[in-house]
Amino acid sequence: MTRLDEAACIEDLRALARRRVPRPFFEFLEAGSYAQRTLRANRADLEAVPLRQRVMVDVSERDTATTVLGEAIALPLVLGPVGLTGMMHRDGEILACRAAQAAGIPYTLCTPSICSIEDVAGAVARPFWFQLYVMKDRGFVRSLVERAAAARCPVLVLTADLPLMAQRHADVRNRLSVPPSLGLRNVLEMARKPAWTLGILAGKRRTMGNFAGHAGLTADVRSVAQWVGTQFDQSLSWNDVEWLRGLWHGKLVVKGILDVEDARRAADAGADAIVVSNHGGRQLDGAPSSISALPAIADTVGSRVEVLFDGGIRSGQDVLRALALGARACLVGRAYVYGLGAAGEAGVARAIDIIRRELDVSMALTGVRRIDEITGHVLARYDRRFNPEEGPT
Ligand SMILES: Cc1cc2nc3c(=O)[nH]c(=O)nc-3n(C[C@H](O)[C@H](O)[C@H](O)COP(=O)(O)O)c2cc1C
Repeated sequence: MTRLDEAACIEDLRALARRRVPRPFFEFLEAGSYAQRTLRANRADLEAVPLRQRVMVDVSERDTATTVLGEAIALPLVLGPVGLTGMMHRDGEILACRAAQAAGIPYTLCTPSICSIEDVAGAVARPFWFQLYVMKDRGFVRSLVERAAAARCPVLVLTADLPLMAQRHADVRNRLSVPPSLGLRNVLEMARKPAWTLGILAGKRRTMGNFAGHAGLTADVRSVAQWVGTQFDQSLSWNDVEWLRGLWHGKLVVKGILDVEDARRAADAGADAIVVSNHGGRQLDGAPSSISALPAIADTVGSRVEVLFDGGIRSGQDVLRALALGARACLVGRAYVYGLGAAGEAGVARAIDIIRRELDVSMALTGVRRIDEITGHVLARYDRRFNPEEGPT
């Protein structure tokens, strides 16, 4: 399989991206922290949720449209924040945002993006969501929030699960830095990926755009981990959510909730939504999979806040599973960035379309026509509390 139009599933896009993107960046995208137990559990536990085949239901008219945080969306999917997206493809954030908007779903620009808030706002048709990391310099955090407001971002996603960065072994071994260091190994690797290299060289953005020009905040450092280590505020607490609520007048989402007690605290602190997430298995290795944490959290706070979900989504069937277990919509990280690495905007569009078509077919085969009909009834064994240990029957 060599061409985008032959890509039948997300795994095909992954294979294409692997061929095009230099190894340090591809491994940055793939990796989980430490022994990658949580990374693997995200996928294994999702796949183990069995769907309930139903027949002889008239499913001739179906609709994947829904709403999230008051916004009408074409399917229950949001492109989530992924750091350094613009290193997977030139202008990656702009291209991913355009593909999301063309498909009628939200795009979330992250704080450590290559294209800045203003770059993206100036290049796309409609506002996007913005993800915030809280840095030690609160004046700078305030200015980021103001820039997101000036760009008319309707939603601010506060990431709670990265007060410091866990280690990904691949990034250490690859000495990942932005822009890429020009050591012999990297130069050789880039020479083997000419399409990527020529694209990035022809672009004007090679550092973290949101930080450019801010005194004391250098974007051009030896390693990403080192940079994060010096800038991120480990004192982040629920008081900061209240501080942010005062600064931000749009919708506020707290991302990185994996515990019922934290979900309650987020709702108490005034969040409009939470994302049940373990950062794609990139932070606490050994934490439960996101999907195993979802049902209890949705039961507890689902009537107070919108419950979004991410971690391991690679197909429309996965989206169906997460919705059946209490999510209103799913964020995806790697799935769309594989598309971006494979073929830029067209690759992201392909990733979204693959997931949309899989969701649509799976809705039909579980006998549901609308998103609000997706409940625990689409799961085999829906009457038992979801338990990944049981595995499929
Ligand atoms: C390469 C990479 C970079 C990420 N960067 C960020 C980030 O800057 N901010 C953030 O809140 N989450 C970040 N995440 C986490 C994603 O938003 C999301 O939680 C995760 O990717 C979901 O898992 P999935 O990749 O299996 O879909 C990143 C994930 C990956 C894979």
